[in-house]
Amino acid sequence: MKGIVLAGGSGTRLHPITQAVSKQLLPVYDKPMIYYPVSVLMLAGIREILIISTPADLPNFQRLLGDGRQLGLELSYAEQAAPNGLAEAFVIGADFVGDDDVALILGDNIFYGQGFSRTLQAEVADLDGCVLFGYPVKDPQRYGVGEIAADGTLLSIEEKPAAPRSNKAITGLYLYDNQVVDIARGLRPSPRGELEITDVNMTYLREGRARLVELSRGFAWLDTGTHDSLLEAGQFVQVLEHRTGVRIACLEEVALRMGYIDADECHRLGAKLAKSGYGDYVMDIAKAAGATA
Ligand code: DAU
Repeated sequence: MKGIVLAGGSGTRLHPITQAVSKQLLPVYDKPMIYYPVSVLMLAGIREILIISTPADLPNFQRLLGDGRQLGLELSYAEQAAPNGLAEAFVIGADFVGDDDVALILGDNIFYGQGFSRTLQAEVADLDGCVLFGYPVKDPQRYGVGEIAADGTLLSIEEKPAAPRSNKAITGLYLYDNQVVDIARGLRPSPRGELEITDVNMTYLREGRARLVELSRGFAWLDTGTHDSLLEAGQFVQVLEHRTGVRIACLEEVALRMGYIDADECHRLGAKLAKSGYGDYVMDIAKAAGATA
């Protein structure tokens, strides 16, 4: 399976901060926001990743992450000329996807919870059609919303409904089989002028090939869409990292644990960031894993 991180958009809800900097490069406590979705794809076992952003911002993502080889990844980059909708990712990324299945994750979505890596790998291995992830929220009208029958069957999907049929927000992580490229190519822009991911999901739902995996309330799915939610996400990461001594979405650590790089390579990456606590952490986990440096 391949992975796409969609990290464009104009970030208007975070102006003036995002007038000169991409939203997905803003810090969430100790690392850039995009580290969080990239770590999710890595934990799912995905190593070929396309990062899509605006023409103005794309070079900054390239400067940050390069070709990904240092992390045992293959990163490539593509421009989205204007925010024409989430589903445009599959039109832009059609050549990159080729004949493979593909995961899409929004560059501003943060997931954290026990067993997530295992859940993801199992869903990737068993994929038939599309898999969505639902999370209970108190304000579902702000999101895509899934309605689920008592036996767990997905009944309906609505984008930002005024009267939500459930409290299950559909998160910004989507797994699709290869048919998604054709589906996205066949979409027409919605009344708000976008190629809607909900229309893609509706196509799978009509075919009876859409599944909603419910993330429990013991899990954290965080928003970074407003000044308050961005700050709260940073505080959440700070509290957990201080309490446990373990970092969330440390790409070097994920690469090491997934076997994408070895302990010495990990140590070298940490040494390059030596003046930050982040670099010390990377060197420490590399040493604990047997780095010889
Ligand atoms: O976060 C989950 C929600 O994401 C889902 O529940 C909704 O179903 C889905 O439509 C989406 O809702 P948002 O209101 O968050 O979508 P928004 O237009 O804000 O775009 C989400 C992110 O994707 C945002 O960081 C900007 C980026 N983006 C957006 C568009 C429309 C792009 O990179 N390109 C785009 O064309």
